Amino acid sequence: MNARSLLRISDLTDGEIFGLCEKALKNPPSASAVDPRRSAVALMFLEPSTRTRVSFERASQLVGRPTILFDDASTSLVKGESLEDTLLTLRALNISTFVIRTPHTGSLEKLRVLPGISVINAGDGVGEHPTQALLDATTLLDALGGDRSRFSGLRMGILGDLRRSRVARSWAELAPRLGVHLSFISPSGWRPQDWGTQIPWTDRKADALGSLDVIMALRVQKERMGPGEDKDTEAFIRSFRIHPLDLTDRQKLMHPGPVNWDVELSSEFQRDSRSLILTQVQKGLSLRACVLDLLGEAS
Ligand code: CP
Repeated sequence: MNARSLLRISDLTDGEIFGLCEKALKNPPSASAVDPRRSAVALMFLEPSTRTRVSFERASQLVGRPTILFDDASTSLVKGESLEDTLLTLRALNISTFVIRTPHTGSLEKLRVLPGISVINAGDGVGEHPTQALLDATTLLDALGGDRSRFSGLRMGILGDLRRSRVARSWAELAPRLGVHLSFISPSGWRPQDWGTQIPWTDRKADALGSLDVIMALRVQKERMGPGEDKDTEAFIRSFRIHPLDLTDRQKLMHPGPVNWDVELSSEFQRDSRSLILTQVQKGLSLRACVLDLLGEAS
């Protein structure tokens, strides 16, 4: 049997999803030391990252496993070696878990079948980012007092650059599993077309925000825009940027980060108690340790 990978939210059962979030809050792994004899976790970041990379590095320490850091510039990938050959070579060096970020959507699927190798998707192009959605859910569960029944009927809106968002795509899968009522808010040109079509969508920000318990803003991903699409950002800022006065006291604000301050969010949110942005980062550490624990060490 192949080792388990986590490439999409659909790789997890409902029980595993709730179990990961609850364990991350109540009882995350906490090893006393890293054991260099154990199989290592490779952190292969072929696109920039701060949160996900460092979070997985720290999470690996929490489960007692050594880490190896890779980028594409310093490996034989630049000499044309395939990702499959690279992983099999590293497997021979007792590295069995590969946390991979790549600009190529869907390119990790072919790695599932490699023997003795477990792959965690740390963001594949505009595909998915499952551990981000799971850490968001852990943050929400914490805000709900740890009571999983309170996910049911929670009204969450995701606003912004939906079409290019792997986080929104993972949430489109995760929300119905949790019982969360998800809706999308964006300019019509940023509405997803080939996924998430079952999620209610609107371009009327003012009407939409009032009915929500939680609002998640997304980063405008300029690096994924084509020529001339910058003008869409200017129009977005005028009509969709969220200001503190747009939210009531009871509403919560989330963002996967990094934030473009004064693009999708007013910089006044940097000191706003309704923001859960740094809590998301904090919960990500324990959630990722629980993911490593669940997948285990492939043999
Ligand atoms: N949220 C997220 O994936 O952030 P990084 O790009 O910093 O990892």
